[in-house]
Amino acid sequence: MSMDEVIEMLLKGKTAVVTGCSRGIGKAILERMAANGADVFAVVRRESPEFAEHCASLSTEHGVEIQTVYADFESEDEVTAAAKSILKTKRQIDILVNNIGIAFPQRMLAMTPMGAVKESFQVNVFSGLLFTQLISKSMMRVKQGSIVFLSSSAAFDGGSNIEYSAGKAAVLGVTRRLAVELGAFGIRVNAVAPGLTDTDMGRMTSEEVKTIALSRNIMKRLGQPEEIADAVVFLGSDLSRFMTGQVLRVDGGLL
Ligand SMILES: NC(=O)c1ccc[n+]([C@@H]2O[C@H](COP(=O)([O-])OP(=O)(O)OC[C@H]3O[C@@H](n4cnc5c(N)ncnc54)[C@H](OP(=O)(O)O)[C@@H]3O)[C@@H](O)[C@H]2O)c1
Repeated sequence: MSMDEVIEMLLKGKTAVVTGCSRGIGKAILERMAANGADVFAVVRRESPEFAEHCASLSTEHGVEIQTVYADFESEDEVTAAAKSILKTKRQIDILVNNIGIAFPQRMLAMTPMGAVKESFQVNVFSGLLFTQLISKSMMRVKQGSIVFLSSSAAFDGGSNIEYSAGKAAVLGVTRRLAVELGAFGIRVNAVAPGLTDTDMGRMTSEEVKTIALSRNIMKRLGQPEEIADAVVFLGSDLSRFMTGQVLRVDGGLL
């Protein structure tokens, strides 16, 4: 039996919720979940024929069900409505991946309006927390589940704007506290902290910052979305069944 077949069996029959999977790392997570046999609720901001077509072809290729749910994570009402529409299906949710994130162009605190800090925290911290509060109810009922947050290397080294670095550090606090609270219900909570990754967000980084980041990176290259997705699948699956409250740094060995 090949390693692919072993992993496929691991997620077969599981249902995952993945946020922000229209592109970048989230899209790779959706593809990896589907390829490994999981049914997926794909949470995206808005309807798009291209995304619908992509989901249909993943579904046919891997024999899994993909349901699309819409929400703008700047709006608490939309986050709540999306979570409720998932809970209403009464499907047992095995894996929740809080992937949605935003980053603004590089600037110093002195040039940063507080509105931008609040907007960043709303999307990168508060909405993921609210969504998790609602979705985890389905996991608490059956006393099992795995939740994965996307943090960032910026949480450790302050390598990005204040609102992003601080927000991604807050995500680690959220991960640790939820691991404690939800651990009592058999639910594991972990985070992945990617380094600079080859997505639209990664490509926003200035050449200067990219050069510094790559010079501190043992592998001397950007991460690929699939490489981050593999770590998320690992934490979502039973392969990591004795891990909770942890952060996996997937950054090519940042020094
Ligand atoms: N790329 C990196 O270098 C890097 C490094 C460390 C951590 N991360 C983290 O990894 C995660 C994924 O990043 P990425 O590089 O894949 O980013 P990306 O290419 O910019 O994609 C971001 C995703 O989040 C969605 N999104 C953003 N704001 C949203 C909102 N208000 N409501 C609903 N959806 C929203 C986007 O949807 P639309 O298509 O509708 O805009 C898109 O699907 C993020 O949490 C990010 O902070 C990335």
